[in-house]
Amino acid sequence: MTETHAPLSYPPSAEFTAQANAAEGLYRDAEQDRLAFWAEQANRLSWATPFSQVLDWSEAPFAKWFADGKLNVAYNCVDRHVEAGNGDRVAIYWEGEQIGDSRSLTYRDLQDEVGKAANALTGLGLVAGDRVAIYLPMIPEAIVAMLACARLGLMHSVVFAGYTANALRARIDDAEAKLVITADGQFRRGKPAPLKNAVDDAVASADTVEHVLVVRRTGIEVDWKQGRDVWWHDVVDSASPEHDPEAFDAEHPLFLLYTSGTTGKPKGIVHTSGGYLTQASYTHHNIFDIKPETDVFWCTADIGWVTGHTYGVYGPLSNGVTEIFFEGTPDTPSQHRHFQIIEKYGATIYYTAPTMVRTFMKWGREFPDAHDLSSLRLLGTVGEPINPEAWRWYRTVIGGDSAPIVDTWWQTETGAAMISPLPGVAATKPGSAMAALPGISAKVVDDHGDELAPPSTDEGEHAAGYLVLDQPWPSMLRGIWGDPDRFRETYWSRYAEHGYYFAGDSARYDSDGAIWVMGRIDDVMNVSGHRISTAEVESALVGHAGVAEAAVVGATDDTTGQAICAFVVLTADHADTAGAEIIDELRAEVAKEISPIARPRELHVVPELPKTRSGKIMRRLLRDIVEKRELGDTSTLLDPGVFDAIRAAK
Ligand code: PRX
Repeated sequence: MTETHAPLSYPPSAEFTAQANAAEGLYRDAEQDRLAFWAEQANRLSWATPFSQVLDWSEAPFAKWFADGKLNVAYNCVDRHVEAGNGDRVAIYWEGEQIGDSRSLTYRDLQDEVGKAANALTGLGLVAGDRVAIYLPMIPEAIVAMLACARLGLMHSVVFAGYTANALRARIDDAEAKLVITADGQFRRGKPAPLKNAVDDAVASADTVEHVLVVRRTGIEVDWKQGRDVWWHDVVDSASPEHDPEAFDAEHPLFLLYTSGTTGKPKGIVHTSGGYLTQASYTHHNIFDIKPETDVFWCTADIGWVTGHTYGVYGPLSNGVTEIFFEGTPDTPSQHRHFQIIEKYGATIYYTAPTMVRTFMKWGREFPDAHDLSSLRLLGTVGEPINPEAWRWYRTVIGGDSAPIVDTWWQTETGAAMISPLPGVAATKPGSAMAALPGISAKVVDDHGDELAPPSTDEGEHAAGYLVLDQPWPSMLRGIWGDPDRFRETYWSRYAEHGYYFAGDSARYDSDGAIWVMGRIDDVMNVSGHRISTAEVESALVGHAGVAEAAVVGATDDTTGQAICAFVVLTADHADTAGAEIIDELRAEVAKEISPIARPRELHVVPELPKTRSGKIMRRLLRDIVEKRELGDTSTLLDPGVFDAIRAAK
C-alpha cells in the first residue's frame, strides 16, 4: 500500500466499538462537570477515608487533589483484587532474558511478596517519607520493591539499570536516599553483567545510605560491606507475608523520577498518591480498553522510565489485569523474541515506542509473520512522534489490519497519558495523538498564548505552535524535588499570565482540530523515546581534559527518532591528538558518564563553534549541518566563516 492510496483515517470496527470501555459519552460527562468527573474516576479506587474536596488549586502551580482522602496505593494494586476473589488471577507473567527462565505470580503471590518486602524494609529502619533508590533489572523483585515502598509510604526513585555509577550517584545524593535496592548483576544479551559494583561506587561517598539490599540474580561475585549490605533472600524471604497497609493522605509523596531538563542537572519529578493513581488507572482502563478477566497486557518500557511506572506497574495492577514483564532485549537470542512472547502468553494489548516499531520494520516482516499474533486486539505507542509509514506497518503487520492503534502523548511530568484517541471512539490518523482525553485540557498556542485556529484545509504548510495544558490534572507533577523555583521557571513562567503549563513540545492542529505533536522545542533530545538533554552530554564531554568546548544537537535518525551529534573543540595541548582515537575516547566517555544510550552517534572535532555575538552557541545552525540542510539565518553569527572551517573538519 503506498502513502497516496492509504486511508487518511482509521475508524474502529463496529465490533470493537460495541465492546469498548469508553464511549463518546465520556467526553460529555467530563465537559459537563470536570471535577465531578474526576471524583468519579477517583472512586474507581478504594479509599480508606473518602475525600470531600476534589481539587485545591489555591496555591497554583502546586496542586492538591482529593486532599482530605486517605488510601494505600499498594492495597489498591494488590490486596483489593485478592479480597474481591481474584487472588488466583495471574498478575505478572515474568519472562526472563534467557529462554525458559520464567515465572508467574498471581495476585495472591504478589500480596505475599509485597507484604514480606514491606516487613523487611520496616526491619531495616525505614519510615514513611524516606527515599529508596531502586536500581534493578526487569525482574519481579523490581515491582515488589516499588509496591513495598508504596505500601509503607516510602518514596521510590527508580534509576534505570543501564545508567552508570555517576548517574546513580547524582540521583542518590539529590534524593538523600537511605536505602538502595539492587541486584548482584543482570543478564544482558545472554551474559551476566555486574550491577552491584556500580552501587558500591555510587554510595562510597553517600553518607545518607544506610543499607544496600541485594537481590541474587546472576550469582556473580560481589564485594560485600558488612553491616551495610543485606541479601534480599535473607531478609525478605524470611519475613512474614502478613502486613497491614496503612492509609496515607492522597497528597503523600509516592515517587521521585529523574528526567532530563535543559541544564546538565537532572530534575527529580515528584508524584503523589491519590491523583497519580486515579489518572494512571483511569487512562489505562479507557485507552487500553482493559478487560481484567481476559486481557494480557504488555507494556515493553523499562521500569526506569515513567512509562514503566504508570503502564508497567500502577495502571495495570490497579486495574487487576494480567501483564507481561520482560527482562531481556528484543533481539536476544533472536529478533523473534517479542513475537514469541506475544504468542506464548497470548498478549492482547501491546504498548511500545515508535523506535521499536521502526526497528521491527528494518528487521523485516518475516519475524512477526512467523508467529501467531492473532491474540492482539489493541496496539499503542508512546514517547515520540510516530511517522505514518511506521504506524501503518504496525497496524498491518502486527495488528492484523484491524487492531486500533492508540498514540499516547504524555511526559514524566504529566504522570499519565494526556492526549490520545479512545480506541472505540476515534477514527485515528497515523501520526496524530488526536485529542486531549476526557477530563484533560490541552491547547496549541502561539507565542502570546493565543490558541491557533485549525487550518481550513490540510493542504500546504501549517503553523506550528506550542503545546500547553490549560487546566490542572490529577497526576500532574507536584514539583521538582528540592527546587520549587526551577519548577515554576521551567513549566509555568512562559505563560504565567494565562496560567498554562508549558510542555516544551511544538504541535499543530489539522483541519479537524486533531493535535499533531512534532517534538521538543528546547534543548532536550529524544533518542529511542529517551529524554537526554544536550547540556548533560555537553557537560560529560567538557569533563574530559582534552575538551575545551562542546555543543550537542539531535539529528533526525530513521530508527531512533533522533541521534546525538556532538561538536567539540579540543584544548591546545590536545589539538594534535590523533583523530579517530580521541573521537572514540570521547564517545566512550559519554557512555561512561551517563549511559550507553547517550553515546553520540557522531562526534566531530572542529576548530571552533558557531556563536552569536553574545557568546551563545547557535545549535540551530549545527542542526542544519548535521541534517545536511541549507544554513538558516546566520546574520547574528559572530564569524560566518566558522562554517567553512566546520565543514572542512567534518
Ligand atoms: O516530546 C514529547 C515526547 O516525549 C516527551 C516526554 O518524554 P518523557 O518524559 O521521557 O516521557 C516519555 C513517555 C511518556 C514529550 O515532551 N512524546 C511523548 N509521547 C509522545 C511524544 N511525542 C509525540 N507523540 C507522542 N505520543
